[in-house]
Amino acid sequence: MEKETSQLADMSAEEKRLLLRRMLSNKIEGGEDSENSNDIPEEFYNFEKFSGHRMIMEHKETFRALALNNPYFSVHEGVSDHNTHIGGKDYINYSGYNYLGLSGHPEVSAAAKAAIDRYGTSVSASRIVSGEISLHQELEKALAEIHGTESAVALVSGYSTNVAVIGHLFGPNDLLLHDSLIHNSVVTGCLLSGARRMMFPHNDWQALDDLLKENRRHHQRVLIIIEGVYSMDGDIADLPRCIEIKNRHKCLLMVDEAHAAGVIGPRGFGTHDHFGVDGSEVDIWMGTLSKAFASCGGYICGTHALIDNLKFNAPGAVLFSVGISPANTAAALAAAVIIKREPERAERLRARSQLFLHRAKLRGLNTEPACGTGVIPIILGNSILCLRLGEKLLEAGINVHPILYPAVPESASRLRFFITCNLTEEEVVYTVDTIADALQLLNG
Ligand SMILES: Cc1ncc(COP(=O)(O)O)c(C=O)c1O
Repeated sequence: MEKETSQLADMSAEEKRLLLRRMLSNKIEGGEDSENSNDIPEEFYNFEKFSGHRMIMEHKETFRALALNNPYFSVHEGVSDHNTHIGGKDYINYSGYNYLGLSGHPEVSAAAKAAIDRYGTSVSASRIVSGEISLHQELEKALAEIHGTESAVALVSGYSTNVAVIGHLFGPNDLLLHDSLIHNSVVTGCLLSGARRMMFPHNDWQALDDLLKENRRHHQRVLIIIEGVYSMDGDIADLPRCIEIKNRHKCLLMVDEAHAAGVIGPRGFGTHDHFGVDGSEVDIWMGTLSKAFASCGGYICGTHALIDNLKFNAPGAVLFSVGISPANTAAALAAAVIIKREPERAERLRARSQLFLHRAKLRGLNTEPACGTGVIPIILGNSILCLRLGEKLLEAGINVHPILYPAVPESASRLRFFITCNLTEEEVVYTVDTIADALQLLNG
């Protein structure tokens, strides 16, 4: 019971009411040691009564009542590139982050197949025990080169990279300061660490500086966490400012490059390349292999001191978790080779993104604050309108997903377009014009 009451802050009003009822009935029936379990509410042991399940049922009911198709878990029947095939129909595709068209690229697929032929489909152990293959080291060398750091380590998932790394490096005496639009995986890592967590308003370096002036001295290690390119809005963090601030306050800086690596910068090497900053100026570069790198996994780039610490000590990173699979490692490595060899892919992606923005402005669509990266939101501020517009676009052969509350506030609900390098100019112009026309119809 003591444990339960200490969790009160995390409980919904309904859960608190049930707990109170249980505490009272325990008293009446002679204490909580009572052998009688009849009074334990179903909400505590039946998944159908869990609030998450109830929420899904409510969503389904809303879709039914509004005669809308459920847009989630649509099944793709081939590679998700600038075009895709769903339910026997072809679509122009804005729902996948195959930024450079390397998932489905023959060189990448061949590398993955060759790795399976040589190593099988699993490395069958954590790397520290006996799961190491030379492809892991080759991939990590390529990632360190891209981010301009001494070393790198690749893990099985982007999400768990943030969780395991932040959770391992920081603890209760530390402060973690992150942008308000940071990815959920960073928040989960912060919670795991037990450190104090504070948010600063999106891309507001002045507010970050003020928070540090007030709080830096009360903590031991302080980590600032930003994204190079923000996953919902597509804008770019002010990296030089953040570096100046972290140096002045003697903090550490972590940059999540999930949507920046392979996309921005003259070489497509990410945020340091975009600003012409040396990679060593940032303490922790984090990235995923699931986007420009056409694979599955996550990675950290930094100094030998950081990477060795993670490799030998971080649970869920290299320790107590299997090594990244041969096929995924080989695919990411082949993609890294192509990223270095063909910077024109990232250049083309950015040109398509600028064309999209230019055309959207002409047609009066709200894409703020997108700036020509691989993410462009069309902000509608109305979930139902997002769903209806998504359906109209689907009918017109355009596949894009709505982002609704609680992923963003209702006033910021949107359609999010991932811009990929194989999109043609005609596809982009057709898409923007179709959005504008459909919106006019829907708004009456
Ligand atoms: C900014 C950011 N960080 C981390 C992740 C997690 O990466 P993954 O999906 O590869 O696990 C994502 C996923 O989309 C992301 O957008």
